Amino acid sequence: MGLQRTMPSVTLSLRLLLAFGCVAVLSTSLLGALVRFEWRRTENERFDAQVQGAKDGISLEIRAEHDAVQDILRPLCKHDAFVDRTLVDLEAGRLDGGRRLALAQLVPEEMKALRLDELVMVTGTGEVLGAGHDPSLLGTRRNDFASILSSKNPTGRVRPPSLYDGKPVSAALTGTCAAHAGNRTVGLLGARHIQPVLERLSKAYGVRLALEGTPDATVLPNEIAQQIVIDEAAGLRVIVAKSRLDLDRHLETLDHWILMTGGVTLAVAILLAFVLARSLAKPLAALSHEVGEVVAGEPRPVTVRGTPEMRRLAHAFNKTLHDLAALRQRHAALERIAAWREVARRVAHEIKNPLTPIRSSVETLRRLKNRDDPTFDEFFDEATKGILDDVHRIATIASDFAKFARLPAPRPAPLDLEDLVRTVVSMHSVQGMTIELVLTPCPIVRADRDQLGQVLTNLIQNAVDAAQSVTTTPHVWVILEPEGNEYIRLRVKDNGPGVAQDLIPKLFEPYVTTKMHGTGLGLSIVQRIVIEHGGEIAYEPQPTGACFAILLPCAGPVATETTSSIPLGE
Ligand SMILES: Nc1ncnc2c1ncn2[C@@H]1O[C@H](COP(=O)(O)OP(=O)(O)OP(=O)(O)O)[C@@H](O)[C@H]1O
Ligand SMILES: [Mg+2]
Repeated sequence: MGLQRTMPSVTLSLRLLLAFGCVAVLSTSLLGALVRFEWRRTENERFDAQVQGAKDGISLEIRAEHDAVQDILRPLCKHDAFVDRTLVDLEAGRLDGGRRLALAQLVPEEMKALRLDELVMVTGTGEVLGAGHDPSLLGTRRNDFASILSSKNPTGRVRPPSLYDGKPVSAALTGTCAAHAGNRTVGLLGARHIQPVLERLSKAYGVRLALEGTPDATVLPNEIAQQIVIDEAAGLRVIVAKSRLDLDRHLETLDHWILMTGGVTLAVAILLAFVLARSLAKPLAALSHEVGEVVAGEPRPVTVRGTPEMRRLAHAFNKTLHDLAALRQRHAALERIAAWREVARRVAHEIKNPLTPIRSSVETLRRLKNRDDPTFDEFFDEATKGILDDVHRIATIASDFAKFARLPAPRPAPLDLEDLVRTVVSMHSVQGMTIELVLTPCPIVRADRDQLGQVLTNLIQNAVDAAQSVTTTPHVWVILEPEGNEYIRLRVKDNGPGVAQDLIPKLFEPYVTTKMHGTGLGLSIVQRIVIEHGGEIAYEPQPTGACFAILLPCAGPVATETTSSIPLGE
């Protein structure tokens, strides 16, 4: 018998919420991670492209700058009076002190006008006639200048940084031109320093530029660098470096935004999941609540609402309920007929037993009377006494049956079961007999005091009968304890012989007894009262003795039909 109650597990709405929540968390995290990855990749590529673009642009600009130095000088040697006159004077031997002084002043002015950083006028023999950037060169003879002028292709070249006479010489983009008359040559050597050019380009392109070999050329850990070869032969290279700090800061802000957006999206998704889970689970929970009420004893149709599937389910349930009610009615009617038949059979059997001796006594009396038998008077007393005993037995059977059939419906009221148990047990105290109480404090129940008293009396009487019948130390236990918050469990145990195996299936049927003077109605009355109180009763076999266990709801009988479950009317 199912006397155990199962505990509620995780609700559907919680499960749905967990499922939707997991989907939301997973999809948002995945999407966030993908967006972040893609965004970072694009930004890194853009950064690399910027560095590459700067490198290409700067290469072109340096080349253009170099060409410009050459382009500036070339026309001066061809048509300009500045070089022509000096050549003529040099050839005619007119390059006296006054003319040299004039040249020494003219060259620096020309250098400024042409926006060059260096300008030197030299003769073919290397004599310096004018020096714009370093007056100490004036009048000196420089073989290196002479060799530049006399080279086959005295065009521009790149000059790496170096030392001359212990003095540092800056890296520069240089240009040369020469004019010849007879065996005389006058030329110009001009240069633009690379460092200012790099500074200008560095600002224009937003990168750091440094000549390789200088301390500035060290690439920092947070920089991306490329190399520009300005002149392979001169071994002059420029490092183009761009700091990743801005990019990293930008990516950090990006992460921050992705995290914020992800957080908000997640919150919205979880909220939606919550709403969705509730809206899906609510009609189900309402339906299950109503079904629970129906199962607990209120056979009314459940409300049809919610999604079409839920409505179909409710309709199906209502139809099943209707069919079940019809089936139950039919079953109850059949059961009633069967019960009547059984009871009629047993009552007839009980009444027939004393009728046989009555009949045989009356027949014997008639026979003795007819033949005027002298033993008639002697037998008359004995026979009429037996007949009266049997009639009395028939009357007892009839009155017990009437009592059983007339058992009224329970009238529940708040009842302290512990108190009732003590009262009933005190009435059963027998000499040499132990009735032990094991009472755990229980909540107040709603029950009919008289009827539950009858239950206890019957069970304890049976236990006492059984224990006394076999053992010299008869012992009966009455155990009362709460079962969860809503039920109370009552057990009556004894150390008697236990119920015979073949008797167990019909133990609760009326008129089943193994006792000489028993009616066999005790347990069927007990079962009927317990069921009418909304409870359950079961026989629990023990290694020694018997145990009857009752589970009673604290709420008391469900107010439905007021007739008895075994409708044996008067
Ligand atoms: N505690 C028990 N131990 C062993 N057998 C039992 C016990 N309780 C009941 N029975 C068996 O069940 C039978 C039916 O019990 P029930 O109380 O219905 O009727 P009864 O006790 O025989 O008669 P009455 O109750 O009218 O005195 C008993 O005759 C007995 O054989
Ligand atoms: Mg009994």
